This record gives sequence, C-alpha cells and structure tokens, in this order.
Amino acid sequence: MQTPTIALAQAQIDFYQQEGYLTLPAITTPAEVTWLRAIYDRLFAAQAGRAEGNQFDLAGADEEGQVATLPQILNPKKYAPELAEGLFRVNALAIARQLLGPEAQAGGEHAILKPARYGAPTPWHQDEAYWSPDLHYNSISIWIPLQEATVQGGCMQFVSKSYASEVQPHHPINNDPRIHGLEADHIPAEQIVPCPIPAGGATIHHCRTFHYAGPNLSDEPRRAYILIFALPTAMRSEKRIFPWQALQQTARMARQKEAAFSLLQKVSPNLKHTPLSGMN
Ligand code: NI
Repeated sequence: MQTPTIALAQAQIDFYQQEGYLTLPAITTPAEVTWLRAIYDRLFAAQAGRAEGNQFDLAGADEEGQVATLPQILNPKKYAPELAEGLFRVNALAIARQLLGPEAQAGGEHAILKPARYGAPTPWHQDEAYWSPDLHYNSISIWIPLQEATVQGGCMQFVSKSYASEVQPHHPINNDPRIHGLEADHIPAEQIVPCPIPAGGATIHHCRTFHYAGPNLSDEPRRAYILIFALPTAMRSEKRIFPWQALQQTARMARQKEAAFSLLQKVSPNLKHTPLSGMN
C-alpha cells in the first residue's frame, strides 16, 4: 500500500463542513492520470459490465444498438483489477478520513463518460436519492477528471450549503421510467458554483449536496472516475419514502436480473426461466 501524498489543511476541512463540497487541484500525478485514462478508454470501448447491468446509459433508454449519451460503468475495478492499486485511491481514502473521520471506508466506485460534442448533461440531483430510504448516510463522492474539466466540457457544479437539507423529491430524467438517471423536481435557490479543475484534480461532495454537470460541448471526451467513501450506515428511526425509485423499469435492471438468473442456473440447472414481466 502506498503512502498518501496529500493532507487537507484545516481551512479546507472547514470549507467542506460549511459548503458541502470542496475542490482540489491535484489528487494524483500526471503519469497516473495517463495510466488511468488508458484503462478507462479500454473499458468503455468494450462496454465492460454491460451483460450484468453494470454498464448502461444514465441519460437514455439504454436500448441495444442505441448510442449512449451518458455511459456509466459501475465498479470498473471488477473489469480492470489493476485499478485496485494507485495513488489516487490512497490519497482519496486519506482525504475521506480527514473529512468523515477514521471509520470512513470505501463504499463503491463508478466511471461516467460524457462523449465529446454530444455528451448529455447530468441533471441536478442528490446522490442519496438513488439509495435506500431506510438508512442514514454520511458519505462523500470524490470525482476525479482524467482530462481538464471545464465548464464547456461538463465539469461539476454545486449548490453551496445544500447538503444541509433532506433528500428532496426527484423523478427519472424526462419522466421516462426506462431512464436510470434522476433529476430533482426543484433546484434550491442558493448560489450555484461551477468547479472547473485540472486533470487529476478532484471535487468532493456530500451525498445530499445538489450537483449538476453540463453537456459536453468540447471536442474531448469528459472522463470522470468517482470514488465513494462512507461512514457505517444506520437504520433510520423515521421512515422515508422515495416514490421515484418504484417508477423505474430500466433495461439495466432487466440485464441485472437476467445475469443473476444465469448465475443461479449454474448452481441449480433445473430452474425454469422466469419472464421479465416481474422485473421490479
Ligand atoms: Ni451524483
């Protein structure tokens, strides 16, 4: 395990506690960015994880043969185990422990690609809107661009101090239940802060911070690698209901179910195939 090469100053920790986000000019080296970018492009070219529902279009109906405008891969290191190493990861964990405390653990990761010139916007949302309404979360996402992230190319934008609010109502993008991506019904009125950063820098946001990334109008793909860190979750005493989650019927969920079924069939070959109608 490498030694972290980064430590936040108290002023940066205070800024995060107050605003619910933070930007860093460098979380890794240019050489590591080049290495990561080669792996990243290979995984997206191969649509790694598609058959098991881990690769899909966040912003579209995700039908086979359609061009994805916001392709995403969940858990990329499953398809490129070398990603388990790296300074970016070591530094990210060190930062997470400074912001959340020593109990913070890695809690998942994903890659979101905005293709050059037609990459779709990521609408305003809170990450926690995707998660279980039954649990209490305290987590951060560390968003690392593998090229310069500009406003024109779709860098991150945050609503300052918005993490202090509860999860607000969301709906699937375009109100289309086939679409995985969520959009908040209303954007809070506080100040919006675009956060352009260099390649290998990072933005950090709390799981309830409102955020957005514009369309990619630039000539270069916008590659972002995102690491999530979290404190242990706890059951909530007060129940929440996230009705938007029940609406969704995505092709990704169908593939995920299909893959789980084939896995089960390997263990119990006599299992009969269930039709996809009972997808939810
Ligand atoms: Ni998000």
